[in-house]
Amino acid sequence: RSIKSLTTSSSSHILRRGYASEAVPYRKVAVLGAAGGIGQPLALLMKLNPLVSSLALYDIANTPGVAADISHINTRSEVYGYSGEAELGKALEGADVVIIPAGVPRKPGMTRDDLFNINAGIVKGLCEAIAKHCPHVSMELLLEQVCLYVRVNLDGLVELYLALVNMISNPVNSTVPIAAEIFKKAGTYDPKRLFGVTTLDVVRAKTFYAGKGKVPVAGMLDMWIYYTDLVSFFGSEVNVPVVGGHAGITILPLFSQATPKANLSDAEITALTKRTQDGGTEVVEAKAGKGSATLSMAYAGAVFADACLKGLNGASDVVECSFVQSTITELPFFASKVRLGKNGVEEVLGLGPLSDYEKEGLEKLKPELQSSIEKGIKFANQ
Ligand code: NAI
Repeated sequence: RSIKSLTTSSSSHILRRGYASEAVPYRKVAVLGAAGGIGQPLALLMKLNPLVSSLALYDIANTPGVAADISHINTRSEVYGYSGEAELGKALEGADVVIIPAGVPRKPGMTRDDLFNINAGIVKGLCEAIAKHCPHVSMELLLEQVCLYVRVNLDGLVELYLALVNMISNPVNSTVPIAAEIFKKAGTYDPKRLFGVTTLDVVRAKTFYAGKGKVPVAGMLDMWIYYTDLVSFFGSEVNVPVVGGHAGITILPLFSQATPKANLSDAEITALTKRTQDGGTEVVEAKAGKGSATLSMAYAGAVFADACLKGLNGASDVVECSFVQSTITELPFFASKVRLGKNGVEEVLGLGPLSDYEKEGLEKLKPELQSSIEKGIKFANQ
């Protein structure tokens, strides 16, 4: 009865960087909300990723133009645009990774939680469609609809369509629990395949830390890891784990674990922590009513989706921070380092040693995070 036994993928599917696209397995990525501020540059970055074979761009409007534009870029993936609810199923069918940046962004003075009323409904609707069109297939569903969900991979082996869901829509602290509840109701929930995208917090923490600590920041090199092994050649780039959640004080960067080591004072660490927590607000205020972070978020979303694809393709030691179902604290969902593999989450890594300041931050964030999680669960079940 093991689904795993049916999802055998060949050991020849070793991820190879470079342009040998024929050696890379077929992967479909769907972006829901693809015509938006995040969606468009994210779609562009996914089009540049040679691990993607098929790129499905879905929005309630304006996707034909975005898809036509992006489809002219001469990279591996084929691009398809889907517009309006009637086409959502087609956009989702067979997706390996579904990225969700659909929903309204913040305006100055708003918290992420202020977006709840609109975005919770959007996420609920999209997750119901995901459960229907690209679920983690239950055995009953598999037997009933076997033809719909099975495909043959490059080596003629049977694989199942099992999408990894990358939730970007805010408030992530609530939209991820909403998604989990919707999938549970549909009988398709697999905690290993649902991710809140918190990569932008990590990206910000790395940038701010590298700037203040005068250590090298990876920048473009990170981006082009798709194509080359230069990162391993040049050695390690800056790294900062960020744990907790994705809003205000629930964002907890662990600068005590940052590498390479920089000689920063307690006051500097406090200021860096605050700046990382308020990074989104910094952008919202600078954009003065024209939305929130879109370009840096698209980059972060592309980095996380790329990690998911690498994990699916069998690359070893793919670790990113993400807001996932977790037992590392008493909270049911928590962001921490996660090892990604062929089935999504391979391992939720522990917090590691914390400084006293971080321990204090951890205790402070728990009530707020707990209440955002509960709010999401309650919404999904009402
Ligand atoms: P935007 O308003 O520019 O784009 C949102 C897109 O979603 C629009 O094209 C809209 O048509 C589409 N949309 C609305 N309802 C939809 C539905 N039912 N199905 C499909 N598409 C739908 O907003 P932006 O700036 O792209 O932000 C999107 C979301 O990402 C917001 O919730 C924002 O708060 C969140 N965000 C998350 C971050 C994170 O770190 N996780 C960082 C920055 C933003």
